[in-house]
Amino acid sequence: MSAPKIRLGINIDHVATLRNARGGVLPDPLRAAHLAAEAGADNITAHLREDRRHIRDDDIARLVAELDSPLNMEMAATEEMTAIALEAKPHAACLVPERREERTTEGGLDVLSQEATLAPVVAALGDAGIRVSLFIGAERPQIAAAARLSAPAIEIHTGGWCDAVTEGRDKDAEREWQAIADGARYADSLGLEVHAGHGLDYDTAKKISTLPEIVELNIGHFLIGEAVFIGLAEAIRRMRAAMDKGREAVRLREGDSVA
Ligand code: PXP
Repeated sequence: MSAPKIRLGINIDHVATLRNARGGVLPDPLRAAHLAAEAGADNITAHLREDRRHIRDDDIARLVAELDSPLNMEMAATEEMTAIALEAKPHAACLVPERREERTTEGGLDVLSQEATLAPVVAALGDAGIRVSLFIGAERPQIAAAARLSAPAIEIHTGGWCDAVTEGRDKDAEREWQAIADGARYADSLGLEVHAGHGLDYDTAKKISTLPEIVELNIGHFLIGEAVFIGLAEAIRRMRAAMDKGREAVRLREGDSVA
C-alpha cells in the first residue's frame, strides 16, 4: 500500500491543566493551539472530561470558533458530551473511556461490551458530519466491533507499549508492538482509518510512523513537557521530523511515494 503523510494532532489538555492549577486564564490553551498549528500540527485535540479537570466547555467553544485547524474533541460517549459535541460541531470526535467499567484491561474503550450504548452516539455524531474515532486497544475483537458500528476510524491505544519501552521491559514492548502492528493491518483491512496515541515520545512516534496503515498520531503530555525545556514550537518541529523519518523508512522499504 502507499503510505500517506502522517498527520500530527497536538493534544493541548495539559496547557489547561497548568492554567487550572493556578486558577485564572494563563496559560491559554487557545494560544497553544494557534502556536501548535503554526509549528506544523495538522489538528488540535482536546479532551472535555466529565469532571472538567483540564479543558472546559468555553475552551471547546473558543477552539471551534477561533481556530482554523480541525479540532478533534475527545469525549466519553455520554448524553451530556454528545449534546455538547453536536452543538459545537468539531471536525472530529474521539470516543474514550472515562469510568473503569467502560474500559478494557488495556485501557481502551470496551466496544464489545458497549456496542448498544455506543451505536447511537457514533451514528448521531456521524450524521452531524463529525468524524468519529474509537480509542481502543489493538485487539482484533475490539477492532471488529468498531467496524460493526461503522465508525470511520479507530485510535489504537499505545500507552502499554510506550510504558514497556520506557521501563525497559523489552519482551513486553515487543509483544505490545506486534499487537499494534497486527491491529493496524487488521483495522485497515476492514476499511477503518487507523490513528494511534497515548504516551508517545520522539522515538516511539518515529517507530510507529513506520506502520503504513497509521495515518494520524495524537500526542500531548510528552510535548507539553518538552515545551518547558525547548519551547512548544521546537518540540513540535522535532516530533514532526521524527514522524517524517519513520514514514520515509516505509517509502524506502516499499519503493512507494509519500503522498
Ligand atoms: N489519544 C487519546 C485518545 C488520549 O486520551 C490521549 C490522552 O489524553 C492522547 C491521545 C494523548 O496522550 P499523551 O498525552 O500521553 O500524549
